[in-house]
Formats: sequence, C-alpha cells, structure tokens
Amino acid sequence: MKQQLEHIRQQAIAALNEADSPAVLEDLRIKYLGKKGELTAVLKLMGKLTPEERPVMGQVANAVRNEIEIKLEERKAAVNAAVLEKKLAEESLDVTIPGTPVIMGKEHPMNQVLQEIKALFVSRGYTIIEGPEVELAEYNFTRLNTEEGHPARDRSDTFYFTDDDSLLLRTQTSPMQIRAMENAKPPICILAPGRVYRKDEADATHSPMFHQIEGLVIDEHITMGNLKAALITLMRSLYGEDAQMRFRPHHFPFTEPSCEMDMQCHKCHGTGEVDGQVCSTCHGEGWIELLGAGMVHPKVLEGCGIDPEKYSGFAFGMGLERMAMGRRKINDLRLIFDNDVRFLNQF
Ligand code: DAH
Repeated sequence: MKQQLEHIRQQAIAALNEADSPAVLEDLRIKYLGKKGELTAVLKLMGKLTPEERPVMGQVANAVRNEIEIKLEERKAAVNAAVLEKKLAEESLDVTIPGTPVIMGKEHPMNQVLQEIKALFVSRGYTIIEGPEVELAEYNFTRLNTEEGHPARDRSDTFYFTDDDSLLLRTQTSPMQIRAMENAKPPICILAPGRVYRKDEADATHSPMFHQIEGLVIDEHITMGNLKAALITLMRSLYGEDAQMRFRPHHFPFTEPSCEMDMQCHKCHGTGEVDGQVCSTCHGEGWIELLGAGMVHPKVLEGCGIDPEKYSGFAFGMGLERMAMGRRKINDLRLIFDNDVRFLNQF
C-alpha cells in the first residue's frame, strides 16, 4: 500500500508539473483528489489493514494528499499568471503604431478642367445653366433647323426612346440654346455643360457617352470676331499663350456661317507621328477637333421669337473630354472613364 501511495504521489507531481492550462489542472485534481479519484480508492482499502498499520498508513496517505494539494495550488497560481500575461500581451495597445491612412477622394481631372472653363466664362459674364439629358427630338433637332429626314437624325447614331423618334438621349448640348432663348430675352449669355449620348464605338477619342459645353451669346452687333475672341481667350487660358489652334469652315444646320476649331495634338505636336508610327491620339491628323461653332442661324432665332434683323449671336459646343485630354496631356479618352485611382491620383 505504501508503494501504491508513493506511485500515485510521483505520477501526480509529474503530471502537475507538465500541466499548462486551468482545464488540465482541474482534470488532474479530479483524477487524484476527487471522490472517485485514485487516492480515495487506495484509502478505501485502509479497512483491510491491521489496527497497528492503520495510523501509519493514514499518516503517509495524508502527507501524499497534502503534497499533491500544495503542488496543485502552486501550479494553479503559475498557470493563471501565465494566462494573464498572455492576455495582456495580446491586448496591449501600442499608441505609437501609425494609424490606418484615410483615403481622401479628389476631384476628377475632367471636372477640374470643367471648373476652370466655367470660372473663365463666369468671369466674363456668362450664366451657367443645365437641362435634361432625356430630350425632345424637337429641341435636339427640329428647332435647331434639323428637319425630319436629316441624316443627323439617323437611328444609327441616336438613342431613341419611342417608335416615333420624338424622345431621345440628347446627342448634343445645342438644345440648351433653344431652352435658353425660350426662357429669356436678349442679351443672352449662357454656358451649358452636360452629358450627351451617341451610338459611337469607344476608342482613343470616342465614347457613347461624353460631355459637351454649349455656349450661346445673343445681343445686338454680335459678330464672328466676338466668337473667335471668346474661343481664343479660352484656349490661351487653358493651354498657354502659345497654344496652337486653327479654325476650319464647316457646316452645321443651326449656324451660318459655321466652323470647327482644332487644337494641335499634344502627343505628336502636330506631326501625326510618334516614333515612326501613326499617332494614336489624333489618328495621324496632327490636330484634335475640339468644338463646333458659328453664328446662330436666323431661322433658329426666329423660331424662338428673336428678331434676326435686330439681334445676332454666336454659339459653340465643345467636347469636354477632349479639352481635358489636351489640358492634362491624356492620350486616351478611355482613361477618363476607367476611374483607375492610379491614373486619377496623378492630377
Ligand atoms: N452640337 C454640335 C455637335 O455636337 C457642335 C456645335 C456646332 C455646337 C456649332 C454649336 C455650334 O453651338 O454653333 O457636333
């Protein structure tokens, strides 16, 4: 029996020394000291001993129990301290670690250029107006002297909503000319930026949705000279005093005479070539078409109740993406719509 007790003692102490969690310690307590534990099992055999042996064994058994109890308490304290230490280490707060950076958004490069253009025209007395993208064909075409059957109204270029082709996504901001003249008497001096839509394939300079800025000035004695001055002032303020631009005669139904204005390609500097290859930004033209313009057609004025004998006016409609491309030296229109932050962060 003495040997049995000694065996239990050694095993219990060894197991307790190994134990590294409160759960394991509790298991060991039950195993050795519990009511159904090993020590109790041995003590139950005491009855079979002689009366002389009994107190001697009793002492030994008590000593073993005491030793195990003391060891258990000792280990409990050590394990709890270790658990606490681990917890504190895990939950410790290092106030010197740099915080998570907050990603700040910023204005899209195209909007930056739009703001520059608006600011220039506002400083010259223009009022900014906006109008619907879902537009009546009457405003988008008919009242701009573009009668039914005109090729510009073709279904292959225009997104129509109705079978009778009376409602559409505006293909240009020019209907804002009609809306402005309907709403006010001359002098009229407005700038109307907004989205326009055409059934175009996307490439380096085309997109089915893009932005235009329409300008309209109506007063007495307005001439083509005023138009050119307004546009040259804009180009110089955006692209510098030595900006290279050209006016070409053109035809638009709602202006007479009409012209287009081009800017020298910022990528090939007018040569049409880059490293012996056709320039992909201007398709080898050396120039990028920026806008259409002209003197408002007398029929358009009359249709809005403005006397063409007394008043004249000029109008222009420019492509905002292309203005931004030149301003920011962007070579492909699609970058403007991709919204890749690596691209946007450069501006
Ligand atoms: N709306 C024309 C277009 O989208 C551009 C244009 C031409 C606008 C002449 C005008 C203008 O105001 O007078 O191609």
